[in-house]
Amino acid sequence: MKGIWVVVALTLEVALAAIPEETLDWWQTSVFYQVYPRSFKDSDGDGIGDLNGIADKLGHLKDAGIGAVWLSPIYKSPMVDFGYDIANFTDVDPIFGTLEDFNRLQNRAKELGIKLVLDFVPNHSSNESDWFVKSLQRIDPYTEYYVWVDPKYDAEGNRIPPNNWLSEFGGSAWEWRAERQQYYLHAFAVQQADLNYNSPYVVEEMKNVLRFWLDRGVDGFRIDAVPYLFEDPELRDEPLSGKPDALPSESQYLTHIYTQNLPKTYDMIQQWRQLVDEKKAEDGQTRVLMLETYAPIDKVMAYYGSEERPGGHFPFNFLLISDLNKDSNAYAFNETVHKWIDNMPEGRWANWVIGNHDQHRVASRYGPELVDGLNMLAQLLPGSGITYNGEEIGMVDAHISFSDTVDPAGRNAGPERYELFSRDPERTPFQWDDTFNSGFSTSNRTWLPVNSNYHQLNLAAQKEAPVSHYKVYQRLIELRKQPTVQRGSLQTYPASEKVFAFSRVLSGKIPIVVVINLGSETEHVNLDALADIPENLVVDVASIYSSRVAGASVSRSDITLDPKEALVLTSASQI
Ligand code: NOJ
Ligand code: MG
Repeated sequence: MKGIWVVVALTLEVALAAIPEETLDWWQTSVFYQVYPRSFKDSDGDGIGDLNGIADKLGHLKDAGIGAVWLSPIYKSPMVDFGYDIANFTDVDPIFGTLEDFNRLQNRAKELGIKLVLDFVPNHSSNESDWFVKSLQRIDPYTEYYVWVDPKYDAEGNRIPPNNWLSEFGGSAWEWRAERQQYYLHAFAVQQADLNYNSPYVVEEMKNVLRFWLDRGVDGFRIDAVPYLFEDPELRDEPLSGKPDALPSESQYLTHIYTQNLPKTYDMIQQWRQLVDEKKAEDGQTRVLMLETYAPIDKVMAYYGSEERPGGHFPFNFLLISDLNKDSNAYAFNETVHKWIDNMPEGRWANWVIGNHDQHRVASRYGPELVDGLNMLAQLLPGSGITYNGEEIGMVDAHISFSDTVDPAGRNAGPERYELFSRDPERTPFQWDDTFNSGFSTSNRTWLPVNSNYHQLNLAAQKEAPVSHYKVYQRLIELRKQPTVQRGSLQTYPASEKVFAFSRVLSGKIPIVVVINLGSETEHVNLDALADIPENLVVDVASIYSSRVAGASVSRSDITLDPKEALVLTSASQI
């Protein structure tokens, strides 16, 4: 009987082969840490985080074991979308500091051996940028910098937008400007005008933006809103999605076949890759491209590009956000891990995102008890780990009323629907300690409120406690330095409906097993289906509510797990 079960189980598993010994590059072995600058640390008391604040706190990243930091936008901006509406792509917004402050931050990062990655936001600019102002006046070459289209008229002769396309932040994606007697396209807020990539001037302009920051020594870019770069030149209406939960004004109401992931978008990414690779050719240092591509899996994978024409080093893997939640069982986890690994082009590098500034906190999506389990997945599955600031201490969403909501995605949705769209809850200030404003700012008013749970939930307390999310996180980052985690094979195994397990094995090295009870009941499982794992295992690190401590023994064939308990097991008491 047992033999049959193993065969059945094996059909469910991934067997990703070990990676041959070779020197992995920095972007493959580093953990990327996303800093949302407005919320990290305020150095000048205006209630908004800034570059000097980040520089002061880089030691935290070092302490955690982080290898690279990605900064959400720091450029000159009217801040309608909190920096994703850029008025000048080659200057720092005064709220965040100056170019000199940027240099200082960069030097500090270098001293600590931390790579610095910037957010590149190519799809749109602020409607307050010089480019847009000139485009409005038809001053060349800016005339065609944006997607301007003549109006249509209905049967009564009323002016209407050229088609049914919708903004991600609600309502028509078209805005009328009397000055030009035309509509312009905005995939996001009205104040975020889409750039026209059919203009060779725009293509060159944006390459110059990349060159500007590369020449200043940055180590790569996270590229924003990649799928939106090009649109159907025929401006065809998009079909209705049929999604029952979406209102007609909401983006989900349509299927985005004419506004997202067009073939030319892939080509543009490949051109940017060529540009960063040319920089690499100068000194041998890789400049990484990480792509924000929320899209169906085949469309996402195509952003890796081909061997001859590579695209991004990786498109972000958002599956642990989009496909799973607190109700998902072990089979769903198994399928989701497969979905990335099995669809990824051969020889490419995976990555695992569990949170960012657009997604509710891990603790709020999965429940606080699963924070350590999710960090174990993100850090110990093959590929790069990515951490959004605050996830290392298990920060939770704050409740923010509609009248206090500042995110345009929330405000546009109105008081009835804002909670479905607002990203304010996951953007509250970092919780450093239990002093005023959690040590984030001395201001009486911070741009978003500090979560009131900060007296208990903060970094200082977690550093002091013998067991904490932060201590688990630190240990996971240490484990990532093991060859087994960097290069070992992967085998996944849903050990029961509620228990998900996987192993990492590398010949001659200590194996690593992760086992997570996703359910709310005690579970008894055996992990005999995992190949090359010895019977006697020891706990390397356990989730914080586990009664097990590091060094405790566990036998592979008979494991009892408490509700939500997550364990990293190895075969030696110390690695
Ligand atoms: C994705 C960013 O992560 C999000 O915060 C922003 O609103 C949109 N792109 C538009 O730039
Ligand atoms: Mg400030």
